[in-house]
This record gives sequence, structure tokens and C-alpha cells, in this order.
Amino acid sequence: MIFVTGGAGFIGSNFILDWLAADGRPRHADSDEAVLNIDRLTYAGNLENLAAVERDPRYRFERLDICERDALLALMRTHRPRAILHFAAESHVDRSIRGPGEFVRTNIEGTFALLEATRAYRGELSASESEAFRFLHVSTDEVYGSLGPRDPAFSETTPYQPNSPYSASKAASDHLVRAYHHTYGLPTLTTNCSNNYGPLQFPEKLIPLIIANALAGKPLPVYGDGMNVRDWLYVGDHCTALRRVLAAGRPGETYNIGGNNEMTNIAVVRTVCRLLDELRPDAQGPRERLISFVTDRPGHDRRYAIDARKIAGELGWQPSETFETGLAKTVRWYLDHQDWVAHILSGAYKDWIAANYTGR
Ligand code: NAD
Ligand code: TYD
Repeated sequence: MIFVTGGAGFIGSNFILDWLAADGRPRHADSDEAVLNIDRLTYAGNLENLAAVERDPRYRFERLDICERDALLALMRTHRPRAILHFAAESHVDRSIRGPGEFVRTNIEGTFALLEATRAYRGELSASESEAFRFLHVSTDEVYGSLGPRDPAFSETTPYQPNSPYSASKAASDHLVRAYHHTYGLPTLTTNCSNNYGPLQFPEKLIPLIIANALAGKPLPVYGDGMNVRDWLYVGDHCTALRRVLAAGRPGETYNIGGNNEMTNIAVVRTVCRLLDELRPDAQGPRERLISFVTDRPGHDRRYAIDARKIAGELGWQPSETFETGLAKTVRWYLDHQDWVAHILSGAYKDWIAANYTGR
């Protein structure tokens, strides 16, 4: 079996549903391999995401903090995973600005505890099991810092220059993973990917926030001048890339994963508005009227872009969605799953919205 940490979050739950070909997702070579999901269930963890596999014999859930090294090791000894995919993290830049402590704890100390448990577990495996074992660390393009308009895209050799507490904590975790490969020979794989979007994303992130606010007729907050550029990757394409890296990536290597979709934030917001107007017209008029420019995020990185030639050339992976096709799927999913959004909007989410947007 495989272990997934953070499997109740956005990308982790998409990964598990894709891995098990559940909830109408297509079968692939690994679909029958069991998965154990380790998640602390922070505000971002939602077991509703995994309702389709709740009673599936191929799926198990353990509520656990990744800082608990001994409990992690005990789980490894019991279930003997052949691979660990590490998604668990504090993942929202704005939250890291308001409270960096949790980011240092989970992203750095948690990754350290997981690496230590994995090192001890791997030492108990047979030579062939130990060689076949993989530790796949899911990271972000934000570790590379901010690009100017004409700078070349981030490659795997771009120096790290993290600018937010979030990206600094992810950069630190990437360095620990690298060190465990070089020092202890742990067969690690690191992926650095761009902004994901798709079903099951918590509505604190740009695209689901804009969809939720637009449907509610609320202002659509755009930070600064709206000209910050991100590369957007459909979450299903990210999951395919991770399966490919796990299957064929070279231990010790890092792979950048991108969607070939660089866009300004304002263009993203306008595209979401247009799609919603088509699919669910608003009697009051086009939703672009709701766009509201608000005070910028401190230290806001101007541009991210990914050079994904290494994963394309070595592993033959390419994204299959364009921004138009992926976004249309995403908007339809949110329209069809208003209950899922309503459950989140009725909880502690309200406190976050008040903290981040009031008086901005
Ligand atoms: P998310 O915030 O939606 O989910 C994170 C999950 O980790 C949640 O289920 C949460 O409960 C769990 N978690 C948090 N702290 C934990 C702890 N101490 N112990 C156990 N579980 C804990 O995040 P996401 O968007 O799914 O991101 C997953 C990974 O991908 C992260 O490592 C993130 O840095 C990386 N990433 C995300 C994006 C993106 O656009 N979302 C882009 C690049 C990289
Ligand atoms: P976000 O989804 O938080 O991802 P990240 O900061 O990891 O890139 O934000 C994406 C972009 O959208 C980023 O440039 C900040 C911007 N943004 C807004 O303009 N308004 C918002 O309300 C949010 C949450 C983000």
C-alpha cells in the first residue's frame, strides 16, 4: 500500500480519489493499490471530500499530526507502505502572514518528524524493499521567489528565494528532504508545482473564493492592481504528474510541474465571471461589476512561471487541460456542489474572511 499525508485537503483528496478511480474517475495501473490517509484535520481537512471511498476496503484513514514521529513509525511498521506521498502542510500564504508559527511547525517540524520516522522504518526493510521504497514530497513553485516580466520561467536549478513565511517553510522542508537523500540515501522525489485549481479546493484560495462570492453577489477582492501573474494547473493534471513521478522519477531528483497557463489575477477573475454569467446568469447583470480592488498582500510575489521541460522530456508528462477546459470543469463542479461549499461557509471560515478582508 501507499501512505498519503494531508489526504483530506484539496490536492490530497483529489489524489486519493484519482488513485482509487473512485467517484467516477478513470481507472489506471495503480487503481487497486490500497492507501492510508494520515491527516490531522485542520480547518483545511474535510472528510466529506472522501465520502466516495469511506467504506472502500482499499482506503483507511488515521487522524494524526505529522509531528508525531513515534505514532507515524508505528503506522509504518503495521502497514508497511512501499511509498509515502507527503502533501500535509499549512498551504495559504495569507494565513502565513497572519500566523507563521503553524507553518513552521507543520511544514518544517512535521516534515522532519515524517522523515525521521521514514528513515527508521526504511532501516527495517529488506534490501529489495528498501531500494524500491519512495518518499515523494509535494512542494510549490513559490520557493523560487518572484520573477520579472521577461525573466525565464523557474527550472529545477533556479536558486531558492522564498519571500513569504509559507514559501520559506516549504523551502526549508525541501532542503530537509534533499539532505535525507544525500546523507541517508533515502529514495526521495520532490515536485514543485504551480497554483492548482479544480474540485474540492477550500474557498480561501482565489478561484473558489471568487466563485463563492460571485454566486452570493458579494464583492470579488482583487489584491493590488490585479496584474500579478500565476501559472495555473488543473488538479487532475497534477495528480497524473505525481503518479508518473512516483512510478518513474529518479530518486534524489526534483521535478517542476506546471500547466503552461500564465495569467494575471484580473484575467482569471474576469474569466470566472464570464463562465458563471453563461452557466448561471445573474438578473442584476454581469458579475464583473462585483470586482473590487483591495489593499495588496504584503510582499506579494509578482510573477511565477514554470519550465516543465524536465518532466516532459524524462517522464513524458504533459498537462491535458487548458485553462479554459479546466476552469469550465471547475466552475461546473462548484455549481453542482453548493452543499459542499455551504458546509464550509457556515463554519470557522467566517472568522477567516473577517480577519483577512475587513477594512482591507
Ligand atoms: P490544503 O491546505 O488544502 O490541505 C492540507 C491538508 O493537510 C489538510 O487536510 C490538513 O488537515 C492537513 N494537515 C495540515 N497540518 C497537518 C499536520 N500537522 N498533520 C497532519 N495533517 C495536516 O493544501 P493543498 O492545497 O491540498 O496542498 C497540498 C500540498 O501541495 C501542500 O504541501 C502544498 O504546499 C502543496 N502545493 C499546493 C498548491 C496549491 O495550489 N494548492 C500548489 C503547489 C504546492
Ligand atoms: P492564492 O489562491 O492565495 O494562491 P498563492 O498566493 O499561493 O499564489 O492567490 C492567487 C493569487 O490571487 C495571488 O496573486 C493572490 C491573489 N488573490 C487576490 O487577488 N484576492 C484574494 O482574495 C486572494 C485569496 C488571492
